[in-house]
Amino acid sequence: MATSATSGPTSPAPDTLLFRWFMDAGVSQVMQVAATLRLADRIASGVTRVADLARDAGADADALRRVLRFLACRGVFREVEPDTFAMTTAAEPLLDDHPSRFRRSQDLTGCAARQDRAYMELLQAVRTGRATYPAVFGRTLWEDLTAEPELLDSFDAEMAIHHSPFVGPLAEHASWASARRVVDVGGGSGRILARILDHHPHLSGALVDTGPTTAIAVRTLEPLRALGRCEIIEHDFFDGVPVSGDVFLLSNVVHNWSDDDVVRVLRLCTDAMEDNGRVLIVESLTDQADPESVTQMDLWMLVLFAGRQRSYDEITALAARADLQAVGATPLGGEYTAIALQR
Ligand SMILES: C[S@@+](CC[C@H](N)C(=O)[O-])C[C@H]1O[C@@H](n2cnc3c(N)ncnc32)[C@H](O)[C@@H]1O
Repeated sequence: MATSATSGPTSPAPDTLLFRWFMDAGVSQVMQVAATLRLADRIASGVTRVADLARDAGADADALRRVLRFLACRGVFREVEPDTFAMTTAAEPLLDDHPSRFRRSQDLTGCAARQDRAYMELLQAVRTGRATYPAVFGRTLWEDLTAEPELLDSFDAEMAIHHSPFVGPLAEHASWASARRVVDVGGGSGRILARILDHHPHLSGALVDTGPTTAIAVRTLEPLRALGRCEIIEHDFFDGVPVSGDVFLLSNVVHNWSDDDVVRVLRLCTDAMEDNGRVLIVESLTDQADPESVTQMDLWMLVLFAGRQRSYDEITALAARADLQAVGATPLGGEYTAIALQR
């Protein structure tokens, strides 16, 4: 009898499996409800009975009990006696002061809810090849963050979750030893640049980003700025990179843009780069990262920006259009790779 990779004695039938995916669409919503209602903080502070949780969180007790039971059978919270819930290790990232800042990234008053709405229009993106975020909200995510700075905290928390697995290995990348000045292009909150400069006292740096995230970078990089080791430049990189340096870092930036835009940004970096300088692209690559996580991210990039995840060869082919050649690729943590490019 023919078998497939997904079938086996204990595998569900294909229709059952696919129907389960449909039902699973609610999982992230339930987790975001828990984040928004701050259930973990309430339970950790001793409010453990459903009736009390519902009163404090402004929720319907019966509906909240069902949410908590849904989460408890997935290991997030535990029903220790009927209608009374306790924390579990899996629930800890939902605490507001958890170092990952996961709760903030998923609070439905922040950016996640908008991103979810853009994802709901995936069919439209697949039909047109265009991003749905601007179609739903009338402006790009970057314009949205500028217009509504209260969304910034959750966006920043989300970005920190993305870069936390690779920021340590990136700070140890071989490029920094011989460099003098790093330009973090689309540097966001400045946390990556701060980590690199902290690790290499001989380096100075500049962060180039548009308005919204530079407000966070100003706070993150203030100690280094006070020492004269760092500047923050609020600037649209499509108008040119207004500062020189010998390493131009593009971390989680390339996947936000179309091929032509990536070539434009690479050319503008090259124009600003000192002789013998290099561009360092940090991305998760479709031919190196876990296929499930990189294809997930790829569809998020489609709906949010009409961007995409790329393979090593796809990135180096774009680099070649900007007269840059790959001189090394280093695996970092969390499925990310650093590709070094030179003229
Ligand atoms: C996905 S985030 C990456 C942030 C950071 N590099 C990291 O790895 O965490 C992309 C960044 O590009 C910035 N950005 C988007 N368009 C830009 C533009 N035209 N000029 C400068 N920065 C831009 C955004 O503000 C955002 O901080």
